Amino acid sequence: MPVIDRKDRILQDVLDKISPTSKEQEKTQDLVDKVVAATRKAISGTNLDHVIAGSFTRDTWMKDKREFDIFIRFPVSAARKALEERGLELGKRIAKLLKGKPTVAYAEHPYTRIRVKDYDVDVVPCYRVSSAMRIKSAVDRTPFHNDWLSHHFLKKLAPEVRLLKQFCKGRGVYGSDTKTQGFSGYLCELLIIQYRTFKNLVLKAPGWRPGKTVINLEGVYPIGDIKALHKKFPKQPLLVIDPVDPGRNVAAALSPENFMRFIKSCRMFNKTPSTEHFFAPPPKPVISQVDSDLSDRRTRLIGFSCPAPKVIEDVLWPQLRRTARRIHDILHDQGFLVHGYDVWSDGETCQFFFEMEVSELPRIRKIRGPSIFAETNSRNFLDKYDPGNRVWVDGEYWMAETARPFREAHSLLKNTLKATEQELKSMGIASYIAGEIAKSHKVMRRRDILAFARRNKPFGQFLQDHLEKNTA
Ligand code: CTP
Ligand code: MG
Repeated sequence: MPVIDRKDRILQDVLDKISPTSKEQEKTQDLVDKVVAATRKAISGTNLDHVIAGSFTRDTWMKDKREFDIFIRFPVSAARKALEERGLELGKRIAKLLKGKPTVAYAEHPYTRIRVKDYDVDVVPCYRVSSAMRIKSAVDRTPFHNDWLSHHFLKKLAPEVRLLKQFCKGRGVYGSDTKTQGFSGYLCELLIIQYRTFKNLVLKAPGWRPGKTVINLEGVYPIGDIKALHKKFPKQPLLVIDPVDPGRNVAAALSPENFMRFIKSCRMFNKTPSTEHFFAPPPKPVISQVDSDLSDRRTRLIGFSCPAPKVIEDVLWPQLRRTARRIHDILHDQGFLVHGYDVWSDGETCQFFFEMEVSELPRIRKIRGPSIFAETNSRNFLDKYDPGNRVWVDGEYWMAETARPFREAHSLLKNTLKATEQELKSMGIASYIAGEIAKSHKVMRRRDILAFARRNKPFGQFLQDHLEKNTA
């Protein structure tokens, strides 16, 4: 069948672009060997051991990826503080042996990132627990993944995983970090074990049903036991039971939006296969288009910006999303209607924007009171509103008309954000963001937002994509 041939040719083209060359393989292997040797030396005579983890060991790493991890395992009896301190000490020692430059990076606990040549090597301390179900820190599972995959992952699957990773990258859904909320490398590996080939996965994924599809490689849950799984993993669109820990959904980080986006991409690839599905085009926003779209939609765009707090992305992104949601609610509580909103950051600045369905309201607002038959409540309502406001009865309910504190969403935003850090926090603004807003921020109208979009292409593209979003 010619269509199949064409697909295969396309996939081969992609593989040629994304697979490491044999020279690169050698270079990386050479460094891995050096890192292992240095680690052995650093931990000799101790009760620690080491594991090289992640995609390199399975040959599922991508071309130009100059990054790998070495895990140093501590006995479970070690105190967390000791693990952290000794982990960093060892990181420094290994860096010295490699003549690399160490820096301290942070995840659940601190670890060392060593810059050697053009590579980043992460030295991550973890616990040598007896099973992945008894982990003491999130990274403790990784050696178990390694081990399970070493028995279940066949070498011939590696190119299929690379295709899947690249396909996810092309759609911006590769990575399980809180910013991306997509597919982790391990998830890609498990999906390929389940479906065998990229081509087959992409054919089957359009049949996935949100929250109903369960991938259960070790068969730990009896088929039909979906109800219990729902309870265990509420609102998670894809359930991939971790073969080394049935209590964990490997796809837990995948957001509903990205789940649908992935499925749509699969459908599109099946319909019109091409290499374009794998490579995102560079940002080329057309701000005049955004401008005329907004005019055409007759919505109003407002927003604000503040400097990005200097925290790791995994801390930053949930805070950005929480803050945007909270501001949405504040606008809504005052009677304004938000059509859509989102937040963007490049680690320097944070941009929150709101496309308003209603951003201007009358001077007056109607308040619905209690039933006239509820005597005490009626008295309280009248005590509060009767002097100074128009009060009447509609059906059996008291009504009152009061002046609105803010007629414009823009002024409500201005007033809300000029609060102190403490006040912002008590309003529900996430803590690091509240700190930055209190230091400095700028409330923006459409022309300011579009002006920034013109200066900053990635933001411009983000805004344009937001307005054109179509995932069905
Ligand atoms: N891991 C995990 N769950 C995640 C992220 C990571 O269980 N959400 C574990 C997996 O055991 C994985 C290891 O951490 O093998 C290394 O993670 P990472 O380097 O992020 O992924 P890789 O699988 O190595 O993929 P990549 O090619 O992107 O490095
Ligand atoms: Mg990796």
